[in-house]
Amino acid sequence: RMRRWQVECRPDIDTFTPGLLALYESLKPSEEHKSNQQQLVDSLSKSVSKEWPNAQLHLYGSCANSFGTSHSDVDVCLEMETGSESIAEVLLKLADVLRTDNFDNVEAIISARVPIVRMSDPGSGFSCDICINNLFAVANTKLLKDYAQIDQRLLQLAFLVKHWAKLRGVNETYRGTLSSYAYVLMCINFLQLREPKILPCLQAMEQTYIMNVDGTECAYFDEVHQLQDFGAENKESIAELLWAFFHYWAFHHDYRRDVISVRTGNTISKQEKNWTTRVGNDRHLMCIEDPFETAHDLGRVVDRQTIRILREEFERAAAKLQNDDDPCVTLFEPY
Ligand code: GTP
Ligand code: MG
Repeated sequence: RMRRWQVECRPDIDTFTPGLLALYESLKPSEEHKSNQQQLVDSLSKSVSKEWPNAQLHLYGSCANSFGTSHSDVDVCLEMETGSESIAEVLLKLADVLRTDNFDNVEAIISARVPIVRMSDPGSGFSCDICINNLFAVANTKLLKDYAQIDQRLLQLAFLVKHWAKLRGVNETYRGTLSSYAYVLMCINFLQLREPKILPCLQAMEQTYIMNVDGTECAYFDEVHQLQDFGAENKESIAELLWAFFHYWAFHHDYRRDVISVRTGNTISKQEKNWTTRVGNDRHLMCIEDPFETAHDLGRVVDRQTIRILREEFERAAAKLQNDDDPCVTLFEPY
């Protein structure tokens, strides 16, 4: 008898590709959604420039990395000179300015790893997070956007995985599961590891884009229009890839030993990163290296209980795709 992880993909897997692609299309944000987002950004930038005329406003996260759905929030980073003021003081002042300008539910969240002001737009109801001088987020947003332009299967896979994660309740960092950003990195790394490869490792190529953030160089090959055919030799369909993605995280990934690393286009060992023992609150049970902040493990939120939940969900997803008559429905059933 074959063991679970040696199972081959069902022969009729490709019959689910049209259904999955239709679902992907339905998740893409509408033109109306994009223009509402732009309006929010315009009114925000008006408010900000009154108090900080030299501040530059950058969009980051899924509203700018091309992995955003109609449900995604708007993430904004303000680049500015803070002088003698601390980030916390600036955020508290910003919260006042936004309240005065009639934004809703304005709240300064100072204690987070990345302190932000959160608010919502009275017109569209969008929720918006604003951080100050977090240029790593701006750099990784561009990296994700550039990867997305190389092979369309990345966007398709990542939209389906994000959608699955939201419906199955495993996209909540405050409850010990993974961020959207972590899921996208898992998709990129997975496609870097296919044979033949579907994505290259941009950080291992000639550096055509260099941005210095707090003394760390964020550099990679960004002339992605030259890489349009990169994945062409690999003919795998989105149904096969989705199946293989869940299969990898259910049965193949070595959770005890490995770290996934988009930076190297490979997995590396926990040993090499010194992520073998618990340091403070960082448990390193499921390790996802941030491509630029390499000391940052996006899996640090995962604990003994939530890693079990995650692995059970990966196994469930693999089983649905393997066995069900209508996996396009059952895979995404809310938990
Ligand atoms: P959705 O809003 O769920 O569509 O996805 P998103 O890509 O915007 O993810 P999220 O709002 O969770 O994060 C916003 C951005 O913050 C990411 O895209 C990254 O650029 C940046 N970021 C950097 N480090 C972290 C981290 O540790 N956790 C999260 N969540 N985001 C990070
Ligand atoms: Mg977001």
